[in-house]
Amino acid sequence: MDISKEITQALNDQISLEAGASQYYLATACWCEVSGYEGAAAYFYTQSDEERMHMLKIIKFLNSLGISAKVSAVPGPNIRHKSLEDALKASLKNEQAVTVAIHKALTLAHKKSDYSTFELLEWFAAEQVHEETKFEAILQKFDTIGRDGLAVAEIDRILASQAGTC
Ligand code: FEO
Repeated sequence: MDISKEITQALNDQISLEAGASQYYLATACWCEVSGYEGAAAYFYTQSDEERMHMLKIIKFLNSLGISAKVSAVPGPNIRHKSLEDALKASLKNEQAVTVAIHKALTLAHKKSDYSTFELLEWFAAEQVHEETKFEAILQKFDTIGRDGLAVAEIDRILASQAGTC
C-alpha cells in the first residue's frame, strides 16, 4: 500500500516529536530524582518509556508499508523546572503541542483519504486526551491539597502510585 510523500513526512515529523517527548520526560525524571521527588521520577521514567512506545508505533507502521522510517537526531531538552508543579505544567504544555501536531496530521490524512494513517492517528488523538487529562488532574491537586512541603510530598506519593500505569 502506498501513502503520499506529504503523509510520510508528517509521520516522520511525528516520530521526532515522540522521540523528543521521550527525551524530555527522561530529563524531567532526572530532575525529579535529584530534587528529592522519587515518586515523580518513577512517574516520568514510565512516561518516557511510553513516548518511546508511541515513537515505535509510528516507525513500525511506516516500516510495515515498506517505507523505512526516518530516525533523526533529537535536540537535548532544555529543562529549567523550578518546582514539581512547574515540571507538571511544562509537561501539560508539551502534551498540548503534541495534540496540535496529531490533529494537523489527522486533517491531512482525511484530506488525502488515507484511512489507514487516519486510523493510526485516531489512536494517538485518543491517547492525547488521556495524557492531557492525566496532567490536568495531577495539577489540580496543587489547588486541592496545597503547595507546602507536606502537600507536595503527598502529590509525589500520588505520582508514585500512578507510575507504571501512565
Ligand atoms: Fe506521545 Fe504524549 O505524546
